[in-house]
Amino acid sequence: MPCDRLLATLTAELEELAARGTLKGKEQVITKVIPGHDEIGSRYRLAGEGDRLFMRMNANNYLGLSLRPEVTAAEDETAWAFGTGPGAVRFISGTYVQHVELEERLAAFHERQAGMIFSSAYATTLGVLVPLIDGETAVISDELNHNCIINAMRLARPQAKHIYRHNDLADLKSKLEAAAGAGSRRALVVSDGVFSMRGDFAPLKEIMRLARRYDERFPDNVLVVIDDSHGVGAFGTSGRGTEEHTRCRGDERPDLLIGTLGKALGVNGGYVVGPELILRYLRETAITYIYSNPITPAEAAAAIQALAILDSGEGKRLLAHLRAMTRRFERGLVELGYETIPGPHPVTPVMVRDTAKTIALVDHLFQNGILATGLKYPVVPRGDESIRFQISADHKAADIDLCLEALASFPGRPKAD
Ligand SMILES: Cc1ncc(COP(=O)(O)O)c(C=O)c1O
Repeated sequence: MPCDRLLATLTAELEELAARGTLKGKEQVITKVIPGHDEIGSRYRLAGEGDRLFMRMNANNYLGLSLRPEVTAAEDETAWAFGTGPGAVRFISGTYVQHVELEERLAAFHERQAGMIFSSAYATTLGVLVPLIDGETAVISDELNHNCIINAMRLARPQAKHIYRHNDLADLKSKLEAAAGAGSRRALVVSDGVFSMRGDFAPLKEIMRLARRYDERFPDNVLVVIDDSHGVGAFGTSGRGTEEHTRCRGDERPDLLIGTLGKALGVNGGYVVGPELILRYLRETAITYIYSNPITPAEAAAAIQALAILDSGEGKRLLAHLRAMTRRFERGLVELGYETIPGPHPVTPVMVRDTAKTIALVDHLFQNGILATGLKYPVVPRGDESIRFQISADHKAADIDLCLEALASFPGRPKAD
């Protein structure tokens, strides 16, 4: 049989993942979406589960925008008018008026000179970091950064790579000192804004102060790049993410800010905003921009609508409701004796700290009609096994209480004091 020895090797590797309890396994297939109303949020049907309805507590759609009529209508109308795909990469003939407008609106929303979109935030991070990290660059990265940052650093060929302890400013300072001492021409500090596995966030103001303090020591400056894919649209009173939440203003804001269109904004795609000249350079050098299609014109039109909602009174109302639901859930968890990492971000982890128990709790929730995601090693460090609940503005108080009731009836539930 062709590939027989390879198939045997891969089978053994999959079996090993299964034995370690870290196999992602069969995917659930959503077969129907039933939009929510005033009393309850959206419900979902799954293949193989008959008429059972499920509530999602594991979606990044923090504002519930993906089902908003204004957003779906914009996507629909644009697809009819412009077709379903871009048909080429941007510099060949794949740039549409919706792409350009979206880039301008993203730049205006984040108060930056320019914006540039990619097919995803993952592609954005690869596209941004690889060309900016050259052989004379020291890249300095938080140890819990997202996989896209880790792989961008692997793909780039920096002079030196420094990993600092999670959110540890003293360690970041010592890495900047080491890079300056070693004579690196450029330093690039990179961090997630919100860390999606835990819902905590980078101390941006302090990171920026350190970077500016060390700037003179590097001929090509210290560039700070923040991937706030989970922050924009979910964090800060107006949804401008970690830089708003940490009150960074003017030069205290990161030089390049990466975001996604596929989480709070409810569509698909990624983007970076920053100085016009850097983005012009990236349009010439970013591999995932030059050699890969952009999002469709219809997706861009939908994202323009989603951004308009976010940047309006309705956006603020949704964000306030999101915070209220997050607080309700956190309070309930504490009352039930569960360990969580409290904070204003809608990612609310329940720290289980055991792989088998995490699997059992996910299964118990599923039996109760709730979709939640267990995080196990190697996605999180051993001992940090947890369930990542994600609250959405689509959830109503009754939905939060339903989930808390399911958690209350889990046989392995911790004893409250
Ligand atoms: C920090 C960070 N960057 C990038 C991504 C990927 O986003 P996208 O799905 O738009 O590629 C994620 C999503 O999990 C993320 O948490």
